[in-house]
Amino acid sequence: MTSPRPCSAFAHPNIALVKYWGNRDDALRLPANGSISVNLAGLETRTRVTWDERRVTGEDIFTLNGSPVSGSGLKRVSEFLDLVRHMAGFDFRADVVSANNFPTGAGIASSASAFGALALAATHAAGLDLAEADLSRLARRGSGSACRSVPGGFVEWLAGSGDMDSFAVSLAPPEHWPLVDCLAIVSSEHKPTGSTEGHTLAPTSILQSARVADAEHRLDACRTAIRQRDFQSLADGIELDSNLMHAVMMTSSPPLFYWLETSLSVMRTVVEWRRKGLPAAYTMDAGPNIHVICEADSAAEAARLLAGIPGVREVRQAGVGGPARLAAPD
Ligand code: PMV
Repeated sequence: MTSPRPCSAFAHPNIALVKYWGNRDDALRLPANGSISVNLAGLETRTRVTWDERRVTGEDIFTLNGSPVSGSGLKRVSEFLDLVRHMAGFDFRADVVSANNFPTGAGIASSASAFGALALAATHAAGLDLAEADLSRLARRGSGSACRSVPGGFVEWLAGSGDMDSFAVSLAPPEHWPLVDCLAIVSSEHKPTGSTEGHTLAPTSILQSARVADAEHRLDACRTAIRQRDFQSLADGIELDSNLMHAVMMTSSPPLFYWLETSLSVMRTVVEWRRKGLPAAYTMDAGPNIHVICEADSAAEAARLLAGIPGVREVRQAGVGGPARLAAPD
């Protein structure tokens, strides 16, 4: 093993077109179904990891957006770092400094970019040079959707049969289809139930088995729509998939309601725009904000119209982003 050295890496968040909700194995984060996403260009987490050869006991140090993190946030990062320590064959504690260039609470899931960047920086800093699939498998252990932030562009997470074959691969590079995510922010409050807990509730909905049983069909339709750049098919597929996931959420025990009144009015409005010819389609994650996926030449118009809907506070735009990558050495 080469001597540990500080290392920084970047990763984008991603938005799922076919969603992951519920695990076959919560500890390993093996998903109930495969999923497809696009990385979000321009938005990213930068993470620097330094392994301290002088410290083999005590706590790791984790700083997020300039503030020290303790408690459950630190525990989640330290448990992830344990996986890297095991792979590297050392016990060194780490100093992790991470920052997002997008505000937390803006409706952009930061755990995907966080664990994508951490996986790359921590392994490289340990002198490990993992293949993309192995890096994706590792990122998956921090947050399921993080495995999709490792490859670039349009990405599929293969559900796999176990830990070894559950990772993400790129379906197409960013330039294949210049879609834009116009994110309509309707609330910046922190979600009451995070996705790690939400996944454990999915099997309590009687709808989850039907959603999972049909997943291969939706994945296939989404892959075809991406390959053929068929926006209408993509739109039908992603709206159905988002609605199915939220139906499971709303019928789990306890039920999870992520939609606000404005979320529903934006969804209805987007469907109406599409009927009138504007290529735009909605999808929602585990929060109240609405991702409106558009073709590039309609994005400015969609963003302008979204900003005019009562209750929409802000609209952000992101194109399709590349893979997780190392930063130039300091
Ligand atoms: O990776 P997690 O545990 O944050 O789960 C992500 C869940 C959704 O964002 C709701 C759907 C998805 O596939 O990204």
